[in-house]
Amino acid sequence: MPYKHIPVMLSEVVHFLNCSPGKTYVDCTLGGSGHALAIVEKIIPGGLLIGIDQDKDAILNAKKVLRPYELNVRLFHENFVNLPEILSQINIDAVDGIFLDLGVSFYQLELSGRGFSFKKDEPLDMRMNINSQVKAEDLVNRMDEEGLKKLFRQYGEERWAKQIAHNIVKVRKRKRICSASQLAQIVCDAVPKKFLFTQKIHPATRVFMALRIAVNRELELLDSFMESAVNFLRPKGRLCVISFHSLEDRIVKHRIKALEGKCICPPDFPKCVCNPKRVVRSLTKKVLRPTEEEIAVNPMARSAKLRVAEKL
Ligand SMILES: C[S@@+](CC[C@H](N)C(=O)[O-])C[C@H]1O[C@@H](n2cnc3c(N)ncnc32)[C@H](O)[C@@H]1O
Repeated sequence: MPYKHIPVMLSEVVHFLNCSPGKTYVDCTLGGSGHALAIVEKIIPGGLLIGIDQDKDAILNAKKVLRPYELNVRLFHENFVNLPEILSQINIDAVDGIFLDLGVSFYQLELSGRGFSFKKDEPLDMRMNINSQVKAEDLVNRMDEEGLKKLFRQYGEERWAKQIAHNIVKVRKRKRICSASQLAQIVCDAVPKKFLFTQKIHPATRVFMALRIAVNRELELLDSFMESAVNFLRPKGRLCVISFHSLEDRIVKHRIKALEGKCICPPDFPKCVCNPKRVVRSLTKKVLRPTEEEIAVNPMARSAKLRVAEKL
């Protein structure tokens, strides 16, 4: 199956990464390699692009797309939280830029056959890395009702979380829930009829997003990555992150704020205990969004938010 994905905010990313020949960058989320290709074209001759993705299909695709530049590229089928180990494996202490384009690719959603989309009659898997242990099917069939409700509410901000969790538990007593289309139907059956198609999005969108986030541990891994990634930047090196979910953006914003030396203690703390040190400056005081023109061509870009920090 050919890999398809339109890179989001491409010109903004290339601009903010400040690419030039001879520099070294890490693309932590290769996907369809659209951003990676644009970066590598700017850093030759002499530059190096380290490409990471936890989905082996993205790595196979990157091998093809980036083949003309293979001497300037190193690819790793890895989780980006393992960046320190990856860099030490290739004897690199610091790079000029680190890029993350979070979320799911068009390929994963529409073509991978792994049940990321509620529109498909596919196994309920949702693992970006097929070597990892837990599938969406495991969560849906094993978590208790309260756990499912919290999951849909917390990660999906789903209004009907309680009703949906209840219906899942009711249905699975009779029959194991194994496919994406079966789960989508269970969600639709749980939402009160008059609210079913009043929103712009399909009623199962938020439940599917919440499950994907949980299966791939997306928020906890992002938070831990954001805490340490800046240690691997050279002075003036840039960290550039595109997020698609308000909870992801909150993590990115919060971590950049702390790295700017601002206190991130809860407001009710009597004194600061986080002792922040200023190691970056933010280059995007206001979050950047895709243009209307880009969204018209690529609706998948509509919720993208770009934040950039530069190491001092
Ligand atoms: C939105 S796509 C990236 C698209 C890419 N920028 C392009 O130009 O096509 C996100 C990619 O990040 C990968 N990914 C998400 N979380 C990851 C993680 N923690 N470690 C490694 N790869 C991850 C996914 O497998 C997916 O391929």
